[in-house]
Amino acid sequence: MNIIVAGGDGFCGWPTALHLSNLGHNILIIDNLSRRSISRELQYESLTKIYSIHERIEKWRQISGKTISFRNMDIANDYAMLVETVSVFDPTCIVHLAAQRSAPYSMMSVEAGNYTLTNNVLTTNNILRAIEHHNKAIRLVNLGSIGVYGYEDRNFVMPEGKTALSGVDSQNDKFTIAGQIPLNPTSVYHLSKSHIASLLNFYAQNFGINITDLYQGIVWGTQTQETGIADELSNRFDYDEIYGTVLNRFVVQSQSGMPISVYGRGEQTRAFIHIQDTVRCIEAAVNSGASIDNEVEVIHQISETRTVKSVADYVAKLMNGTINHVPNPREEAEEHRYELEHTKFKQLGLERLSTLDDNLLDEIQNSVYKHLDRIDKSCIAPKVNWKNANHKPSIEVVDAIAS
Ligand SMILES: NC(=O)c1ccc[n+]([C@@H]2O[C@H](COP(=O)([O-])OP(=O)(O)OC[C@H]3O[C@@H](n4cnc5c(N)ncnc54)[C@H](O)[C@@H]3O)[C@@H](O)[C@H]2O)c1
Repeated sequence: MNIIVAGGDGFCGWPTALHLSNLGHNILIIDNLSRRSISRELQYESLTKIYSIHERIEKWRQISGKTISFRNMDIANDYAMLVETVSVFDPTCIVHLAAQRSAPYSMMSVEAGNYTLTNNVLTTNNILRAIEHHNKAIRLVNLGSIGVYGYEDRNFVMPEGKTALSGVDSQNDKFTIAGQIPLNPTSVYHLSKSHIASLLNFYAQNFGINITDLYQGIVWGTQTQETGIADELSNRFDYDEIYGTVLNRFVVQSQSGMPISVYGRGEQTRAFIHIQDTVRCIEAAVNSGASIDNEVEVIHQISETRTVKSVADYVAKLMNGTINHVPNPREEAEEHRYELEHTKFKQLGLERLSTLDDNLLDEIQNSVYKHLDRIDKSCIAPKVNWKNANHKPSIEVVDAIAS
């Protein structure tokens, strides 16, 4: 199969590209390398050394004999180049992972939030338009986020698939409409993902595009079977306050003798998945060929849910660490009922996904241990506060309002 991996230089995209290439698919990565620029802008480096995209691809060619192609392109802002590329490469499937994916980054300033919104929405819209323009039969596998549901009490298990909402009309008759359960994003990043859910519905309904939207949980782990083969193929490991996910931060803190910092009481529930399962799930979604019936297929790409506190306890016990509760910089309920159906991947043949209890933390610990000298302890404490974007209006704006 010809497959485009949009965002294929990123944390989930690079292992996905290698995994699909290893299975014999013909892969084209499209990426504008913006994640690398943001890293430089923030001065927060991946703990693992990341080689250039060209070195990565060349090493993969030497090891596997397989060629991955690459086009450096801003998908949000270069529709002409995108549509030309799609027409020439003629993919059967596009896996869309190109996004600014950090919630704290999106709340850092007005500019960072606007960038996140426009980048994520326009990237998706351009990909959908290119599919519509070139060949409506191209399947889109989109990486969404489970965080779009928000973290309020939900008095029901949130379903996968094609949802039907029911109610009572003005004649007191019951009715059912096809639709999605309400989304309730709590950051601008998750808001962008909610807008994307509407975009996907629009293109499925109006153009019959075949779309699977994977609502993914927090991804943990670093390497996959392919990225672990050589240093040049290594995946990113982010542990900073902006891009570091909760488990990575906790392991780095414990390993370097700092207390594990839990935001608030830590009773917030989160969904998790291991990076090796991310690539297996994407493979299953690519192969599933969801039927075209003008509706988006939503799948919860998660293996388990846990409270943040239980993750902290787990890491602390394993690594002999201590826990420190710090004020929560985010706007969210600190305790909530949160149950998510996750049976679709089982139906697609993935019998079991890994959980924290499978002792896969060894691999993260090793990654951290190998790079102890690269740890920057100052980048972990949260400095972005949801209520207090650091953007200050320019003097011109202040003057204009005053006059
Ligand atoms: N990492 C997680 O824990 C997680 C959890 C849930 C959902 N997701 C979703 O999975 C997808 C991939 O996330 P990730 O962790 O790999 O993020 P990442 O930042 O590591 O990778 C995203 C890639 O997209 C590229 N990109 C961004 N905007 C682009 C543009 N306009 N044109 C071309 N390339 C562009 C970046 O350069 C980067 O390489 C995202 O949609 C994210 O929302 C990730």
